Amino acid sequence: MPQATYHFPRGFLWGTATAAHQVEGNNTNNQWWQWEQAGHTDGTSGLAADWWGGRWREDFDRAAETGQNAHRFSVEWSRIQPTPDRWDEEALEKYRTMLRGLRERNMTAMVTLHHFSDPLWLSEKGGWENPEVVALFEKFVRKTVDALKEYVTLWCTINEPNVYALSGYANGTFPPGATDLKRAVNVIANMLRAHAVAYRTIHQIQPEARVGYALHFRPMVPKAGWSPLDRLMRNLRYEGVNMAFPSGISTGVMKSPVGSVNIPEARGTQDYLGVNYYSVDTISFHLGRPKELFTHSDFPSDSDFSATKFIANIPEGLYDSLKWAVRTYPDLPILVTENGVEDAEDKMRPRYIAQHIHQLWRSVNFNWPIKGYFHWSLVDNFEWERGWTQRFGLWGLDLETQKRIRRPSVDLYAEICKENGLSSDMVQKYCPEVFEKIFPS
Ligand code: FCB
Repeated sequence: MPQATYHFPRGFLWGTATAAHQVEGNNTNNQWWQWEQAGHTDGTSGLAADWWGGRWREDFDRAAETGQNAHRFSVEWSRIQPTPDRWDEEALEKYRTMLRGLRERNMTAMVTLHHFSDPLWLSEKGGWENPEVVALFEKFVRKTVDALKEYVTLWCTINEPNVYALSGYANGTFPPGATDLKRAVNVIANMLRAHAVAYRTIHQIQPEARVGYALHFRPMVPKAGWSPLDRLMRNLRYEGVNMAFPSGISTGVMKSPVGSVNIPEARGTQDYLGVNYYSVDTISFHLGRPKELFTHSDFPSDSDFSATKFIANIPEGLYDSLKWAVRTYPDLPILVTENGVEDAEDKMRPRYIAQHIHQLWRSVNFNWPIKGYFHWSLVDNFEWERGWTQRFGLWGLDLETQKRIRRPSVDLYAEICKENGLSSDMVQKYCPEVFEKIFPS
């Protein structure tokens, strides 16, 4: 049996990612809380992982003790600016304390400024559909970055603008539950304008800042490769889902399936690209889905499926995503800002981790400028409309007691972080079923 270790470059960032609304608990002043109370989600966020109550400390301890040297979390706009004319200095101080907590544990902080949740007062004004949001976001960013700049240089303006816009305004699974592609495109255009303004604002306050956003990237294949219709649908959906922000940032013209939007100020507004990768979609033509532009997405039926079939384990897709990123933006640093799987039993997660880290290593070996990897997630958290039915944590969470459950993946990921690499011994120990795939004899 081959014995080897796939090593990563010195200084590689190994961490996990979380988001405010998913872990903090009691975020009563945003549109998600309201959406939950109205019964649109599988359970409510409630106390979540109780980070606002202070349990971030024990979770940061766990992360640090298991070799992680970085953490990506988000700040909650509705806490920092509870009403349009009030800043909550205590909330900002709490985030400063958390950031000090990371520093004390020798962990690099990455802060996301917007991760799906909006203050209620903003939603009442029409949220991201209202062009005023650009100036409002700028104000919020200025205040927040100024307060946190002592501890952070790595900023993520907006998490997954495509998922936010398409889920909230095209397929209706996120608040406000709209199903109108034109509205979704307007939202994403405003997000791109806001991102561009935030990019400049942050650099003004902190010249050494590294500013980018996190793109949810879905590689896609046509279901029937021979079918011109499936191929057409694949291209249509691929453009619609993946390309809005990247096209806007490359050229100043944001592409969309319902027309292009000129946003010249967006050009070049990124110092790195954040890639969130989960799976590869198989696309076909479907007459019954006019709202999705007659496209349908699923996974091959013989896939290695996650617990609720939300994710098919297709590690090569990570490699393909990174290859796309490096070809689109040669020399731009890349971070894998999310990657993970929902698996309460932790049956698939060890192999999902090992196989994805293997693909990451392949990518790094072409000297693609990949600087770090953030696993989603550190501890089970509130999974949006799917509530508590999906468990993405390395650590499990017992909601009744707030007790953390150490899943085997904790130890595998700890070994990877500490070794700065993936060894044949690790694969043999945690997921021997994929040994031959990762270390072929
Ligand atoms: C991503 C989101 C993140 C989490 C994971 C599973 O789309 O950014 O908040 O929900 O999926």
